[in-house]
Amino acid sequence: MSKIIVAIDGFSACGKSTLAKALAAHMGYVYVDSGAMYRAVTLFCMRNKIVGTDGKFDEKKVVNSLKKIKLSFKYNPAAKASDTYLNGENIEKDIRQMDVSNNVSKISMIKEVRSHVGIIQREMGKDKGIVMDGRDIGTNVFPEAELKLFMTADVDVRVQRRVDESNSKGEHVTFDEVKHNLMQRDYDDTHRKESPLTKAKDAVVLDNSDLNKEQQLAFVEKLIKDFLLTKDTLSL
Ligand code: C5P
Repeated sequence: MSKIIVAIDGFSACGKSTLAKALAAHMGYVYVDSGAMYRAVTLFCMRNKIVGTDGKFDEKKVVNSLKKIKLSFKYNPAAKASDTYLNGENIEKDIRQMDVSNNVSKISMIKEVRSHVGIIQREMGKDKGIVMDGRDIGTNVFPEAELKLFMTADVDVRVQRRVDESNSKGEHVTFDEVKHNLMQRDYDDTHRKESPLTKAKDAVVLDNSDLNKEQQLAFVEKLIKDFLLTKDTLSL
């Protein structure tokens, strides 16, 4: 039986990666966090002072840095997902910091950055059997994906979830700074010229404001079962 591609897009901190990870485990598929790649490029540029502490950068220098960046991924059984490596260094923790979150959406607007990262993403999905989450997976990276989800949730619910997640890791962030970051990124991601965040025409909307993890997974499992009834392409 052939495998499929599941594309999950949506606003920041909607629980895309939590659902994508659970779904990938359920299906025996590979999970890919596409945002981690944009975060890795951003981290490289910050470390090399291409992005200043004021968030300003010269676009040409960012594009030029792409050839010095080697991204790789290694499965981490504890996280049940792959960690992201930048030139051989595990940067999984560093790319989740607020300073990277504050710069990533501006870096990911750059056309050359998107095409560079897009090539890596398409290569990862060439054999299918993949669940990838991000902002343009169903619209741009895999427009042919068999199952597309578009996730959304009330902004304050999203902020609180992100604050709780950070606190549980011992990182101190305030509700207001997280809210500002999420709203700014959502604005940048939906208004950019290159592959903006938008719902693919054939994507199913999942608003998880009032759904727990189990309910979300059950919702998607049902979608897949319904899909199976109409298309004989998938084995679970
Ligand atoms: O998913 P995550 O919040 O880690 O993504 C960080 C940022 O990377 C997003 O706010 C967005 O600017 C960018 N991104 C993107 N396209 C994707 C995934 C992420 O532009 N497919």
